[in-house]
Amino acid sequence: MRVPDIKIAVDGYSSTGKSSFAKLLAKKFDFLYLDSGAMYRGVTYFAQQNGYISPDNVISDSLKDALKELDLHFEVGSQLYMGAECIESQIRSMTVSSQVSPIATVPYVRAWVDERLHAFSEGGRVVMDGRDIGTTVFPDAEIKIFMTASAEVRAKRRYDEMVAKGQNPDLQEVLENLQQRDYIDSHRETSPLKKADDAYTLDNSDMTMQEELAWVQGLIQGKFGIL
Ligand code: CDP
Repeated sequence: MRVPDIKIAVDGYSSTGKSSFAKLLAKKFDFLYLDSGAMYRGVTYFAQQNGYISPDNVISDSLKDALKELDLHFEVGSQLYMGAECIESQIRSMTVSSQVSPIATVPYVRAWVDERLHAFSEGGRVVMDGRDIGTTVFPDAEIKIFMTASAEVRAKRRYDEMVAKGQNPDLQEVLENLQQRDYIDSHRETSPLKKADDAYTLDNSDMTMQEELAWVQGLIQGKFGIL
């Protein structure tokens, strides 16, 4: 199936499988995949490393100026780099997960990330996942998907993912972290997580990736009249 040069926005709650789904679409349709959450995680890692955020989430005003010097970009296989350093595994740690949502409430951080996401996706044919892609980053995306699944299913998925990476997570801590992030993400003032009016909801609590793919293919075929 040949998909036209469109933008696909995939938003939703933590650990709904947005990134696995978005990566699968990118591979299947030959699109560029961009993980906007990795950018917020990268800023959080940078802030933690350089003392711009305290343990109780007080964010220093000097982070704003420091961002002017920060180089975050993706290299082959959607790996996030800070300058010459690949920080992919650092940004997936619980240390970063525990402070990313407070960092993502800061309007100048959001503006900084949005500017880069637009630059990275110049030329279109991109699938991007996050919290505000269909509402703020790409309000004109042709296909918008809002993903959801029960909190227990999501926590178990994230837990299994961490175990597979050789980490030693605590299921309750993982569940609480994702519930806290959902709350902060949905209640912040700037670009809160919410379904765009024209987004299609995908509840994948009981779906396999292949079923998800068939669902989105049907959606695209219907929308663009592709047989
Ligand atoms: O992978 P997971 O669903 O846990 O989260 P993520 O996509 O890596 O995003 C990490 C955090 O970044 C989220 O909990 C949000 O606080 C923030 N974020 C955001 O505010 N806006 C986005 N477009 C993407 C992520």
